[in-house]
Amino acid sequence: MSDPTTTRIHGLTTAEIELLGERSAAAKELSYSPYSHFRVGCAVLCEGGEIVLGANIENASYPVTICAERTALSRARLEGRTTFRALAVSTDISPPGKMRRLGSICEFCRLDTPVFMFDKTGDYKVLTLEQLLPMSFGPDHLKKVEQGGQ
Ligand code: THU
Repeated sequence: MSDPTTTRIHGLTTAEIELLGERSAAAKELSYSPYSHFRVGCAVLCEGGEIVLGANIENASYPVTICAERTALSRARLEGRTTFRALAVSTDISPPGKMRRLGSICEFCRLDTPVFMFDKTGDYKVLTLEQLLPMSFGPDHLKKVEQGGQ
């Protein structure tokens, strides 16, 4: 059997992935989703090893809703974290993989950041940010405009 402390997927040990699954599922319990009843939890693995949680927070005025990825990354930024190794989301559906609120991730994560998508059973799919959102728009494009490039 593979050793969970040395086998790596996108640079993460299987033990770290398991922990992200557990923490994002715990974050899902914090979801405030009385309108959609669609709970989403997010766990961000920061460079130093800390894990910061987020969940979707809905609003009676629907567009004011904040997605789980955005609450987690905003919180991580406010806590002084700027570099992220991976991101995990958990939902109540199966199979895993239905998760597309990527704008907030593009702002703060490199395109090779792995995004682990866990379903209600703990199964996951993993894709990098670039695989999820090819040809994305992000902060680097605005820097190029400022520098006179395309
Ligand atoms: N949601 C997220 O939090 N992240 C996603 O990637 C997909 C959708 C939330 C927003 C809203 O509260 C609910 O799921 C239904 O759209």
